Amino acid sequence: MKGRKPSVTAVVGGQWGDEGKGKIVDYLASKADVVVRSQGGDNAGHTVVNDQGKFALHLIPAGIFNPDTLNVIGAGVALNPKTLLRELAELKDRRVSVNNLIISPKAHLAFDYHLYLDRRQEDLRGSRRIETTKRGVGPTYMDKAERIGLPVRLLLDPPRCLEALEHVLKLKRDQLGLADVPEFQAASYEDLIAEAKSILGDMITETAPILSRELAKGSSFVLEGAHGALLDLDHGTYPMVTASNSTVGGLLVGAGLPPLCLTKVVGVFKAYQTRVGAGGMPTELKNALGDRIREAGHEYGTTTGRPRRVGYFDGVAARYAHQINGFTDIAITRLDTLAGIDELKICHSYQHGQQRIDDFQVDDAVLQHCTANYEPDDVYSGWDGIGDASDCGSLPPEVSQYCAGVMKAFPGARFSYAGVGPERDSLLSAA
Ligand code: IMP
Ligand code: MG
Repeated sequence: MKGRKPSVTAVVGGQWGDEGKGKIVDYLASKADVVVRSQGGDNAGHTVVNDQGKFALHLIPAGIFNPDTLNVIGAGVALNPKTLLRELAELKDRRVSVNNLIISPKAHLAFDYHLYLDRRQEDLRGSRRIETTKRGVGPTYMDKAERIGLPVRLLLDPPRCLEALEHVLKLKRDQLGLADVPEFQAASYEDLIAEAKSILGDMITETAPILSRELAKGSSFVLEGAHGALLDLDHGTYPMVTASNSTVGGLLVGAGLPPLCLTKVVGVFKAYQTRVGAGGMPTELKNALGDRIREAGHEYGTTTGRPRRVGYFDGVAARYAHQINGFTDIAITRLDTLAGIDELKICHSYQHGQQRIDDFQVDDAVLQHCTANYEPDDVYSGWDGIGDASDCGSLPPEVSQYCAGVMKAFPGARFSYAGVGPERDSLLSAA
């Protein structure tokens, strides 16, 4: 044990979310000592399929299925206690132990008034709406930045929590003229706070000394990203983004881990492109092929059920994600979903009017008017199935060639994982 260096792997979605991070984290977590969820809220949804069944997780880290793995909800998370209680109850019902979960007292609470404000903001934005998941996550982070948010530690002291709630709700009622709206009455949260204290109380604990001890012991960590790089509040397609930092830096800040501990950054990419919500998407397929991929891949939101927009793999966006995250390893997921399609294309540049553009555009006004260029070299023959490949190196030639086309976007990174089906064992590693 002595002298062992810790390994810290960040798992980052490289696109607009829903890349299959849950599956990669579930796989890596089966060998990890610690899994940390650092940012975002229950606007994220990870689907995990393993020998215990199929689970849609929103807040609980995907390492929960390994009883020997410590799971941490970090300070950067927007935590809706109702969702967490529901998720815990479902896992307990299905006999998954949740004794291996701890929660940072510094995470911020999302309450029904945040959901109300999310809906109201979206209505008021009219044609400029973001098409959020309406989970109140944006308003929770707004309150946090305004210094009127409610940290999770307040749950340990219900009278103090109610007092803080009354203070912020009075502010909101006065500012927004919402005097009679039920979500803005502190008393309506009394039962929830009591229940949250009784169930979550023992899990709430300062994480810094615990994580520090694990690092000193040489433990293996997985940092589970939520959403995708292009939805990052600072580096994404603002304003069509989420309200937290979903790139690798955000995972370190949200976890409270020293940045130099990081040993690996896995970028997770679907073999094609999807996006939920508004904003430009140069490779979007608004045709029968797009519909076909949507149905084959069940591309409907885990959180909202909304149909996802589908397109060819966008290598320009992927290269940008690599520039801001520095991926050491790449996972290409959902290769099975593309089976049976005759021809596939990948774009590595855009066309904007007369201009060819090689770099991604975060300004939605520009991105909306970019179309994808498909060079003859970037048109690939499809495949019928994955065959009996046992690692990334033994994929059928058509799949291999296509993956090599995807990897053009990631100079210096290694093709380390291939997702070829929903189950835990249908993830191939590099040989
Ligand atoms: P919010 O995060 O609910 O505020 O939504 C902001 C934008 O991010 C919307 O376009 C959502 O559809 C998108 N979004 C948020 N979380 C996810 C996710 O986990 N997967 C895909 N899209 C997401
Ligand atoms: Mg998702």
